[in-house]
Amino acid sequence: MSRIVIVSNRTPGKGPAAGGLAVALRKVLADQEGFWFGWSGKLTDDPSPEARIEDIDGLSVAQIDLTRDDHHAYYAGFSNSILWPSFHLRLDLATIESHWYEGYRRVNAQFARALKPLLKPDDIVWVHDYHLIPLATELRSLGARNRMGFYLHIPFPTADALYAIPHHAELMRDLSRYDLVGMQANRDVAAFTEFADHQAPSTFGATQAAVDIDFSGTEIAAFPIGSDPDAFARLAASPAATKMIHRMRRVLADQRLVLGVDRLDYSKGLPQRVEAYEKLLANNPRLRRTVHMLQVAPPSRDSIKEYQEIGDTLDAMCGRVMGRFAEPDWQPLTYVKRAYGQPSLAGLYRLARVGLVTPLRDGMNLVAHEFVGSQDPQDPGVLVLSRFAGAAEIFPEALQVNPFDTDETAEALRMALDMPLDERRERWGALMAAARRHNVDDWASSFLQRLSPGMASPKTSKRDILYL
Ligand code: G6P
Repeated sequence: MSRIVIVSNRTPGKGPAAGGLAVALRKVLADQEGFWFGWSGKLTDDPSPEARIEDIDGLSVAQIDLTRDDHHAYYAGFSNSILWPSFHLRLDLATIESHWYEGYRRVNAQFARALKPLLKPDDIVWVHDYHLIPLATELRSLGARNRMGFYLHIPFPTADALYAIPHHAELMRDLSRYDLVGMQANRDVAAFTEFADHQAPSTFGATQAAVDIDFSGTEIAAFPIGSDPDAFARLAASPAATKMIHRMRRVLADQRLVLGVDRLDYSKGLPQRVEAYEKLLANNPRLRRTVHMLQVAPPSRDSIKEYQEIGDTLDAMCGRVMGRFAEPDWQPLTYVKRAYGQPSLAGLYRLARVGLVTPLRDGMNLVAHEFVGSQDPQDPGVLVLSRFAGAAEIFPEALQVNPFDTDETAEALRMALDMPLDERRERWGALMAAARRHNVDDWASSFLQRLSPGMASPKTSKRDILYL
């Protein structure tokens, strides 16, 4: 049986608690032969060209170090100051420095040189996320003929946003070097198909060289990622979660909890969320003292100016809401800039009357899935969900909102707080069924089955598949 080789920028154990990628992939290698390859998290002046292989919590992990300059150009630069904002349609927040692209390609080539000697001919290579789009090109140029799949965890951009990315034609050609490209949602496959149908093979812009792209050997499909909702249900009833629930109940008394959990990232719509909550309190004086909003927002990518700014904006907005509504014996919100472990989060999700998941744009958003999994079936909370999260395709029974329209979000919040128990149970039942249908095990096995048809069948087979 073929081995599975997972490649991602971060390796297990290195990611922040709120990021979904590491949580989702740990399970894939738990009972399948193979290894995980990625950056060690270390910066050195003279990195070894060979990967170090170690055992991390029973997983075989091969890692390389990077130089400080290469890492900056590849990670903070091209990946997170160009690709991330553009793919999330925030061109206003993109910073373009042309030399970052060279660093991005250098690191991908370094990954390929260290990974190639570890590959056996029938290994299946599964590459994750926007940091590593060129990896198949680099591996193939070294002679690797393995089946290779790429999964994009973030949204695929519209054509206009794609055009704004320097070297976008080369990046699209890099995607065509994979056998399978998986995306989160049908909308992402549609955006990709639109581009591929109309622009490839083609020439791009006046200043870019012509790039021929042939997608005939690449299959593109939506594989919406999920969580393990039943594991979250168990976690939410665990002693650690129960301890968190008891601590919170003492503070909240009978106030209902409105909860947000997000990396501190401008794509998450946090200022709009606080504004919507402010409008809820302004429009519905009867609700003051009966609700409390908790926003958990662990800092992320804080070497990047736009990430520092979103933190400052949120500080100011939370201060404003406190100044406007707080009383000596009532505080409308709490804003916590640190990460919590999954058991504590599961407890918070279970306690919350409303889960507020309102990103301006998001690949999937696993917080939505984890919130649903953690609910008490007898007294479930309500999910208020952005229609621009990939999760909106999975969860039509959530109260879906346009997160840019803070009046609409405020009204959805009011509806959620006023929702009768019967309706909460009915909606949650449908959400939980959807979360189970789209669980992370089926996600991984569907992708791997499609990439390598000889492998064990996935538990569910129905997916929207689009061939190019
Ligand atoms: C998103 C991305 C992941 C990334 C995570 C945390 O979920 O899709 O690839 O690992 O954010 O971001 P960071 O920059 O800290 O790895």
